Amino acid sequence: MKNLLITGGAGFIGANFVHYLLSHHDYRVVVFDKLTYAGNLNSLKDITNDRRYAFVHGDICDAEMVEQTIRQHDIDTIVNFAAETHVDRSILDPDAFIQTDVYGTYVLLEAVRKFGLQRYHQVSTDEVYGHIPAGHRSRESDQVAPRSPYAASKTGGDLLVRAYYTTYNLPVTISRGSNNVGPYQYPEKVVPLFTTNALDDQPLPVYGDGRQMRDYQYVLDHCEAIDLILHKGEIGEIYNIGTGTEIENLEMVQIILDTLKKSPNLIKHVTDRPGHDRRYALDIAKIKSLGWQPRHTPQEAIRLTVQWYLENEWWWRPVKEGDFQEYYQQQYGERLATEP
Ligand code: NAD
Ligand code: TYD
Repeated sequence: MKNLLITGGAGFIGANFVHYLLSHHDYRVVVFDKLTYAGNLNSLKDITNDRRYAFVHGDICDAEMVEQTIRQHDIDTIVNFAAETHVDRSILDPDAFIQTDVYGTYVLLEAVRKFGLQRYHQVSTDEVYGHIPAGHRSRESDQVAPRSPYAASKTGGDLLVRAYYTTYNLPVTISRGSNNVGPYQYPEKVVPLFTTNALDDQPLPVYGDGRQMRDYQYVLDHCEAIDLILHKGEIGEIYNIGTGTEIENLEMVQIILDTLKKSPNLIKHVTDRPGHDRRYALDIAKIKSLGWQPRHTPQEAIRLTVQWYLENEWWWRPVKEGDFQEYYQQQYGERLATEP
């Protein structure tokens, strides 16, 4: 492993992973990103002059561009973060999700096959398991049961990766991460949305009763686990990554308000998301057996994240002023104007 292609490297987790790689290894890192609304070169600004880093503006659905990049940079490993990722947007318009998360994954797998690459890692999500009732934690061997267009398209990607392993013996691994929080997350996701809204004394639109449960993990813990899988993971295997503990959204909101010393009056319960999964919960024994464990609890991860947004207005303020406003109006305008 010498020359890595990090697809979706200008997004939230991808950019953190690139930082993680450059500070822990001496690899060449090529970011391949379409720069959708979620891609942001400001998240990679501090490494622009690092000689081990290069950026390619491209779409993973474009086989020719993918192949040309692999040739030009002598790529031996692909870590695929590129995806459409927001559940609410997948409900408004699933099209791009099917394109990128399913077809794009297929294009990358074909390239791995054609060039005989050393390794392909697929970054996936706990959402493929669907809603998990109390008393159970998802294991990697559980059946997938996605319930949103986002989760279904990510599941499609996972199934293709598995099929390419079984059929063509490709050297693949898959990780299924829980909700990440940390620096550089686009403020459509709940923690940066609520943090930046609270900083501006704007309402925090909590879906339904707010008692849904998520395992909020710190993004660099997730990156460390992916790096470990690349080095010690078994080919063909799936690994869950999370803290192994989940909290209610209302607790997450309270941590944000307490950290910023803001009033609970900012909380506004709004109409719930259609098909909202009430609980995700991961069994993380398998990744722990590789020698990894989370360094942060969900509570610590959320506090650190709030602190980062407090100190990095230069990053999020321009993002929230652009196309974001149109999306916000479409997603929340009516919800905030009416009682649920
Ligand atoms: P993000 O939305 O912040 O970033 C996605 C990146 O992919 C952006 O830079 C975007 O420009 C790029 N992209 C989108 N379509 C592309 C295409 N066709 N070709 C090339 N680049 C494209 O996403 P994220 O939160 O960083 O998530 C990264 C990966 O991790 C995704 O696969 C996601 O499903 C998975 N994941 C995310 C979370 C989470 O909590 N955010 C949790 C578990 C798994
Ligand atoms: P999100 O960050 O969209 O991640 P996911 O749905 O992929 O887990 O949402 C996290 C939780 O927060 C989820 O239960 C939905 C809830 N939520 C709200 O209550 N209000 C919001 O405005 C958003 C974006 C999410």
